[in-house]
Order: sequence, then structure tokens, then C-alpha cells
Amino acid sequence: MQQPKLKSTVQCTDREVGEVTKVIVDPITKEVSHIVVGNGAGEPGRQVPMAQVQAVTDGTVQLRTASTDLAQFPLLKRDEYVTIDEVEIAHLEDHLHVEPGEVLIPLPELERNVKRRTFFANLTHAIGALVALPLAFPVLKYLMKPMYAPLDNHWIKIGSANKIKAEDVGVQFKFKKKFKEAFMPEAEIDKNIWVLKASPAVLEQVYKGKDQIFLDATGREVWINKQSVPYVAYSGKCPHLGCGYKWRAHKVLGQVFLCPCHLSIYDASGKVLDGPAPRPLDTLPIRVTGNGDIEVIDMEFKAGKKEQVRIV
Ligand code: FES
Repeated sequence: MQQPKLKSTVQCTDREVGEVTKVIVDPITKEVSHIVVGNGAGEPGRQVPMAQVQAVTDGTVQLRTASTDLAQFPLLKRDEYVTIDEVEIAHLEDHLHVEPGEVLIPLPELERNVKRRTFFANLTHAIGALVALPLAFPVLKYLMKPMYAPLDNHWIKIGSANKIKAEDVGVQFKFKKKFKEAFMPEAEIDKNIWVLKASPAVLEQVYKGKDQIFLDATGREVWINKQSVPYVAYSGKCPHLGCGYKWRAHKVLGQVFLCPCHLSIYDASGKVLDGPAPRPLDTLPIRVTGNGDIEVIDMEFKAGKKEQVRIV
């Protein structure tokens, strides 16, 4: 069936009831899950699942239901959704043929059909892995390196602290990380880390009154992040399944780190506010040199675990 278009006339089995004012998209399957049917009477519109749509033509959406039954569908609670402009989901717009800005994505607390979402998430990951495997082989080798090599504790310069203009605002630093396999030329992968110049309140939430000690595989101390140092670095990988996340304005929660893959949301201290993430964002060893360069040890930790298990 073709996708319902915005402003299409909505027809029940007995009469016309309004038009499509918005569409709601499942961020995992990237398919339209609901249409919002407005009748022009000033109410927010009814959320009608696509299962109730019998047919879609260019300018009309035909529902299976009678107009008297339309009231059974909930009114749209706009605050519980974000638009696709507010989150970044790879290739989402390729799937949709409706105007950006009118396309809504549910926040995690509204995810009703968890089993289906989990199924599609796993399917998407499996297909992605199969397609990418030949291309990703050198990178996978690099990621599997800790299975046969010691953890990498060298400091990497990622940029200048001058880039950070305000407190408690996530700033992304991108860098390239080199790796080398015995049988292959040296290669580079793109990485990123989020750095925050934390206010005393956020610093307290990050460190909870004690310095953070980082250890290597043998239990030897590698570095201590002092709780008095305001710069905090977070690994660029979401602890849920390792996606990249962004610093975004959220209508209800304010400025947050938001992961588009399954909509985990973290506050400036890395604490999980919502979504499936099993632990806070992973802090990294960070130091600022005398001339203002930020350096980090780019540690990585197992995704999907409640506890931190270092792998790189
Ligand atoms: S990878 Fe799933 S929420 Fe980030």
C-alpha cells in the first residue's frame, strides 16, 4: 500500500471525517505506524493505526471503520512525540514521502508494541551486519583486537578546550583513530567523543563525591579523573547498542544527549533519563594540557551491559 500523504482526505466507511494532519513513524522499521486525523475543529486529531487503513490513493485515505467509531482512537498528545527534524535517524527520509516537520516519532515511553520493535531492531541489525561484513572486516578485526592484545591506554589529542563556549553543553570532538593489522596497511576509523565543561552541580552528579579511577586489564591504575576538574568526556558510543548519539533540545527535558537508534535519553551528567540504555554514558580519562588541548584515552566498553566491561 502506498504511504498516506499529508492533507489527504480521510474517508470512513460511511462519510468523510477530515484530513491527515500528521503521520507517526516507527523509528526502527521506518514505516508509517499511524496517521493523525484532524477534523478542523481545533482538536489535536485522532491517532489511527495503519491497520485501520484499508486503502490509500493519491488524495484519499480510506479507513475500515465507521465515523461513529473514530472516537475510540486516542487524541494525539503532541508533547510525547518529536519531529524527525529533532532526531537524526539514518535514511529515514528516504523511506518517507511526506513533508519533514509533520512526521512524528514517539518518545520511548509511548512504545507500545515492544516485541515487534525488538524483532525489527534485531532484524535490521542482522541484515546490516550481513551487508557490511565484507567491507567492515578490517574494522571488525580492530574491534576484536582486545581478544589478543592488551588494552590501549595511549592519550589522543582531540581538539582545543576553546571550542567549548558554555557550561553543561555537550560538544562533539571528532578524530581519526589509527590501527594496524600485521597483514594489512595502516588504516583509520572515524571516532567521536562528547566533552562537557561541567558546572559544579553536574560534576557532583558525574563523580558523586569521589575521583574516578581507570584501570588496565591487569588492575593497574591508568589514570584518575579528579572530581575538581570540570572537563568530562563521554565515549561517543551509546551504552545500549553502540550507536552514535547527539546533543539535542528536548521539548520536555531540555538539553539532553539523545540516541536516535532506540531513543535513549541522557542528561548532561550522562544519567539515563529514558529509553533502553542499561547504564549511564561511559566517562573517559580526560586531561587538558597547559596550552588548552584536550586529550583522552579512548576506552570502549561492552554495549548492552549494566556494568562497565572494558574491551578496548
Ligand atoms: S543504541 Fe539503542 S538507544 Fe542508543
